[in-house]
This record gives sequence, structure tokens and C-alpha cells, in this order.
Amino acid sequence: MTNERKATLTIEGQDPVEFSILSPVHGNDCIDIRTLAAKTGMFTYDSGFLSTAACQSKITFIDGDKGELLYRGYPIEQLAKHCNFLDVAYLLKHGELPNAKEKQEFVAIVKKHTMVHEQMAKFYQGFRRDAHPMAVMVGVVGALSAFYHEAEDFSDVEHRNISFNRIVAKLPTIVAMAYKYTMGEPFMYPRNDLGYTANFMYMMFGNPCEKYEPNPVLVHALDTIFTLHADHEQNASTSTVRLAGSSGANPYACISAGIGCLWGPAHGGANEACLNMLEEIGDVSRVPEYIKRAKDKNDTFKLMGFGHRVYKNFDPRAKLMRGICAEVLKEQGLENDRLFKLAMELEKIALEDEYFIEKKLYPNVDFYSGIVQKAIGIPTTMFTCIFALARTVGWMVQWEEMISDPEFKIGRPRQLYTGTPARDVPPIHQRDD
Ligand code: SDX
Repeated sequence: MTNERKATLTIEGQDPVEFSILSPVHGNDCIDIRTLAAKTGMFTYDSGFLSTAACQSKITFIDGDKGELLYRGYPIEQLAKHCNFLDVAYLLKHGELPNAKEKQEFVAIVKKHTMVHEQMAKFYQGFRRDAHPMAVMVGVVGALSAFYHEAEDFSDVEHRNISFNRIVAKLPTIVAMAYKYTMGEPFMYPRNDLGYTANFMYMMFGNPCEKYEPNPVLVHALDTIFTLHADHEQNASTSTVRLAGSSGANPYACISAGIGCLWGPAHGGANEACLNMLEEIGDVSRVPEYIKRAKDKNDTFKLMGFGHRVYKNFDPRAKLMRGICAEVLKEQGLENDRLFKLAMELEKIALEDEYFIEKKLYPNVDFYSGIVQKAIGIPTTMFTCIFALARTVGWMVQWEEMISDPEFKIGRPRQLYTGTPARDVPPIHQRDD
């Protein structure tokens, strides 16, 4: 990966120093600056990590200019069309799609772990019924580490595999329980005769009093949403999981940290914020007013569901999500859904606006996902929980890649100190004046 090309840094008053240039399989070359401080006594400054590769990874690749997303080399469009979420979870974890036997074994293992410890149900009772489900998720997922002391040697690949299977299997149950708790309805035990996503819908929308069979069209749509959200390179929440894991913290605590980061409206909370924004805009006639606000430097309002740090073209997931949206609205008899029509008009106007063109602001994955989930019957406050359910696969695989990397060290960035210069504590009497 290191090619012969070198980067030479010339700092006034110092001899030039050379750094290797690392060339990836896809994407940007990287200047290896790991010896910069030792050679120059200087740090780089890159708040927000606009120009920083924090790690090497083999899992996911994004080409922001082309609007491409690859999981282990496969384009997201092909995975969404030919695979289901558990195929994709297996692919992300093991690097290859499962054959029939591997898939059967993986599905069987996941089914064995879908239930949570009965004591877990008691955690929910500590929350108010109107608690945001993401607050519940942060607490309950973090608490999983209290239940599995026997599999905590994460240098052991088997312990890492058990943890992966457990958390992938249990997240749907935990998310459904968070929803049921807010509704004041009884928790539903998993049904292992159902597929992964059908079982999730059963635990969400079923109840003990009547038969519930998940609608296969909606199951397919939600399963595809899980696939689209499974991983996304070194986004904020994944970087949070990696940094937390670099201290040797257990994966459940790391995933809980990732859930907390994902909750923010600039990140995974954007789907909830986007739907709330569409409700606030209310009518196509008010779109220009909100576009104007989004462009106003003095207005903190941003068009939720637009823009991306990496994609300077369409987010390929947004394109797929728009198709899923049309399918679900048709199945639900909501083709004339007011919010969907408003979203389509907002997207059209924004994409023709010179501000959005110049800043390369395109719809991202969150733009349509809220409408799809609302049409399926998922409440707005649950949208980011659904995102977290899917992204837990990516978080676990990224965490494992990090701790099994022989070069891995605890993450410890430095800073550019701009505070008060060093000074002595004055004698007590001098402090009064
Ligand atoms: C996700 O990183 C990932 O991969 C994330 C994600 C994943 O799968 O993990 O893809 C999921 O988080 C998608 C993003 C969801 N968030 C939103 O939809 C919220 C709205 N979007 C923005 O907050 C913003 O676009 C970000 C946070 C997504 C990206 O921010 P950046 O890369 O820091 O870009 P920026 O804020 O510096 O924006 C560049 C310019 C700025 O104007 P200038 O300062 O250059 O004049 O574009 C403007 C911004 O003000 N801008 C917007 C805008 N997004 C950026 N202006 C209006 N509306 C917007 N949505």
C-alpha cells in the first residue's frame, strides 16, 4: 500500500522532512504523518476531520463524488436488490456473502439469541413512558454488558463472534420493547418461526390479543432500509464506537456510545428532524420560505435530509429510499400522501436552487426514510432507533476490525491550546480586588 511517492514538508527554520504516501484500493491517497510530531514537534490541526483518515479499513467504501457505496466491494444497489439484511450482516462481518449452509447456520444462531434476559425488561420500568426511545436504547444496550461476563475476553475471536451474534439478534427485541413501553403495551416475545425483519415487525405491532401477520411488502421495505443503514465508513457514530473501543471497553458500552452520537439531528436524528420539518413546512407554497431560511447565514435552520460530509452527489441510499417510499405508499394506499408530495417538491426546488447546486447539497439517506417509516406505521421518535438497529451491525464489525488490528492503539488526539497562558495562583488577599 505504501508507494514510492513521498511528501516533503518544508517548515521555515527546519530541514525538510519526508513522509510516505499510502495508496488505497479505492479513494484518496494518504500522507502517513504518524511521525510528524517526532520529526517536527508539530501537530496537524483538522477539527471535524475534514482531511483526516483515522484508520485503515476493509469494510465499506464511499465515493462521494460518484455517489457510490460499497460493502466489502459490492455496490449497495446490488445488495439491496439481491440480498436481505442478514446476508449483508454476514457479509460485513466475514467479508464474503454466505453460501446456503453458512446462511442457514447464521440464521439459526441469530434465532437462538433473540430473547433478552428477563431482568432486562425491568430496566424499562425505570423510564417515564414518554422518555425518548433513544434515551432508553442508550441505557438498555449499555446494560447488556452486565449480563455477559463469561464472554468478555475480546482478544478471543469466539467471544467476539458470540457478542456479534447476540447484539445483532437482540437489537430488534430491545427496539421493539422500547416502542411497546412508550405505548403502554405488553412486550412481545420473539417468534422464531418468522424471519429477522418480519419478527421485528411482529414484536413492534403484534399484541397478545389477536393474530398479527406482517405484510411482506412492508417487511421487504424495512429489511431494505436495514441494509441501506448497515454501515457507512467512518461516520461520527462509528468513529465514536472505535474511539470508545480503543480503550478496551466492552462492545455493548461502545455500541451504547454510538447510539448516543447517532441521536444527534446532524447525524442519525436527521430522519426524525426531517419529518418534523416537513410537518412544519406543511404545504408546497411554504417551501420557498424554508429554502430561503436554509440559505440565510444568520438563520441556524438547515434543510434536514440534505447535505453530507462525503457525498457531493446523490447519496445512493436516498435514490433507493425514494423507490422504497413509492412502493410502501402504494401498498398502504397513500400514493397521494401529502408529506411525500411535499418532499418530492422540496427535493425538486432545492436541486434547482443555485445555493444547493454550488454547495453540492443533495438529499441524503435520511430524506425519504422518515416518510417510509411513517407510512409503515413507525412513530417519528422511533426512526433513529431503527437506524441504530441496522447500524449496530456496522458498529460491531468496525469495532472488531479496530481491536483485531495489530497496529491498534488507544485513540488519543492532541489539541491546539488557545486558553489562558501559564500563571501562578495569587496569594489569597490579592484575589479579592
Ligand atoms: C447522516 O457521515 C455519514 O456518513 C453520516 C450518515 C451515515 O450513514 O452514517 O450518512 C448519516 O448523518 C446523514 C446526514 C444527515 N444530516 C442531515 O440531513 C442534517 C442536515 N445536514 C447538515 O447538517 C450537513 O449537511 C451535514 C452535517 C450532514 C454535513 O455537514 P458538513 O460536512 O460539516 O458540511 P457543512 O455543515 O460545513 O456544510 C457545508 C456548507 C455550509 O455552508 P458554508 O459554511 O460553507 O457557507 O453547506 C451548508 C453549510 O451551512 N449546508 C447546508 C446544509 N448542509 C450543509 N445549508 C442548508 N441546509 C443544509 N442541510
